[in-house]
Amino acid sequence: MQGGRVLKTLHITGGRPLSGTVEIHGGKNAALPILTAAAAIPGRFLLRNCPEIRDVEITREILALLGVTSHRAGSELRLDSTGLRPAAIPPALAGQLRSSVLFLGALLSSFGNASIPLPGGCVLGARPLDLHRSALETLGAQTEALSDGISCRGRLRAGTVILRYPSVGATENLLLAALHAEGPVRILGAAAEPEVDDLIAFLTACGAEISGAGGPCLTIRPSSLHGAEHRILPDRMEAATWLCAAACAGGSLALTGLVPAHLRPVSDALRLAGCRITEEAERLSVTAGPLRAIPPIVTGPYPAFPTDAQAPLMAALLKASGTTILEETVFEDRFRHIPALRAMGGDIETVGRLARIRGVKQLHGARIRATDLRGGAAMVCAALGAEGETVLTDAALLDRGYQDLIKNLNLLGASVSAD
Ligand code: UD1
Repeated sequence: MQGGRVLKTLHITGGRPLSGTVEIHGGKNAALPILTAAAAIPGRFLLRNCPEIRDVEITREILALLGVTSHRAGSELRLDSTGLRPAAIPPALAGQLRSSVLFLGALLSSFGNASIPLPGGCVLGARPLDLHRSALETLGAQTEALSDGISCRGRLRAGTVILRYPSVGATENLLLAALHAEGPVRILGAAAEPEVDDLIAFLTACGAEISGAGGPCLTIRPSSLHGAEHRILPDRMEAATWLCAAACAGGSLALTGLVPAHLRPVSDALRLAGCRITEEAERLSVTAGPLRAIPPIVTGPYPAFPTDAQAPLMAALLKASGTTILEETVFEDRFRHIPALRAMGGDIETVGRLARIRGVKQLHGARIRATDLRGGAAMVCAALGAEGETVLTDAALLDRGYQDLIKNLNLLGASVSAD
C-alpha cells in the first residue's frame, strides 16, 4: 500500500528518466500461500520480509475470522494459529483475491471438511478449479461445486496425483491439503515456480517432510507440525516491473534484495532489447539504452517467461524499433491492457493469444483505466516513457501487489501524484 492511503487515480507526467536504488519487497505470491498455511498448522509463526499490500491484509482478515491472530511490525508479521477454529469465509473477502482458494486445502487439512466462496483475483479469462478438485478427489475427498463456492470433505489418503498442467494454485492447495493425509502423497506434474518452493521451505521449517522441491515430482509424508520462522522470498514480479519501468523511462536503476536467477527470462529479454543489465548476488542493475525489437517471447510455466511480466514487457517494447511478437499461453484473456497502451499511441495488433508490437517513435499521455494488477503496472511503465500527463483510474488495483510504488517512483525521479 502507499503509506496507508488507498489509491484511486494516478497522474503521471512522463519523460523523466529513473535513477537510484529500489529495495525489492517480499513476494505477494510467496506470502499469500504461506499466510494461508497458518490455517493448516496450529502454532506461532514469524514471517520476515512480508509485503504490506492489500492482498496480504485481506488474507489477515480471513485468518482473523478463523481465530488466527496477526501483528505487524514493519515488514515482520507474527501469526498465532493456536486458537484456529472453523468459520465461514465471507464471499466479499474471498472474492478479492485468487489465493483465497488455498483455504480449501488448508481447512480440509485441519478440520476434514471445508467450504469456501469462489475466489477472485485478476480477470484473465476463465480460471477454472477443475485441477484442484480432481486432485483432491483422487486422494479420496468428496468435492462439490456450489453455486457460490466449493465444498470438500474427507481425510486424504496416501496416493499419487498427476496434474495435467503445472498449476501453481493446484500444487499449493495440494501441498496444504496433504499435510495431514493418512500416508505419503505424491504430486506428479507439480508447478516449479520459486513461490511454490518458498511454500515448501516454509512448510519444511514447520516440520513437514517434503521431497522434490524445485522439480515436477513432490512427495509429502505425514509428520508432526509446529510454528516456525521464515523469510519470504523477494518479489520477482515487482522486480520485473521495475526493470521494465527503467526500460520505458530511461535512466539507471539498481534493484537490491532479490534473486537475480528468478528474473532471468525477463532480464534476458530486456538485454536483447538493448538494456544493459548486470547481476550480482541479490542485486540487478539496469541501464536503459535505445530499444530494439526482440525475437518472439512465449509465456509459460517457470522457468519460461512469466505471464505476470508479459504486460510490463509489452510496455517496454512499445518504443523499440522493429516488430516483436508476444504469445500468451498461460491465461486465455491476458491482453486487457492493450486498449490502454494503444490509447497512448502504442501500435499493437492481436490475433488470438498473439500480440504484434510495432515500435513507435513516441507515446503520449492519455486518460486510461487499470484493468488488472500487472496490466495496470504496464500502464504506469508506459506512462513514464510517454510525453505529457497520463491519468490512470482504478489505480487501487496496484495496491494489491505493489508496496510504496508511488513513493519509490517519485524518489527515483518520476513525477507521480495520487488522489
Ligand atoms: C498463480 C499466480 C498468478 C500467476 C499464475 C501463473 C498467485 C496468487 N497467482 O495463479 O499471479 O500468473 O500463478 O504463474 O500465486 N488452470 C486450470 N484448472 C485449474 C487451475 C488452473 O485449467 O484447476 C489453468 C488456469 O486457468 C490458467 C493456468 O492453468 O490458464 C495457470 O493457472 P495457475 O498456475 O493455477 O495460476 P494461479 O494459481 O491461478
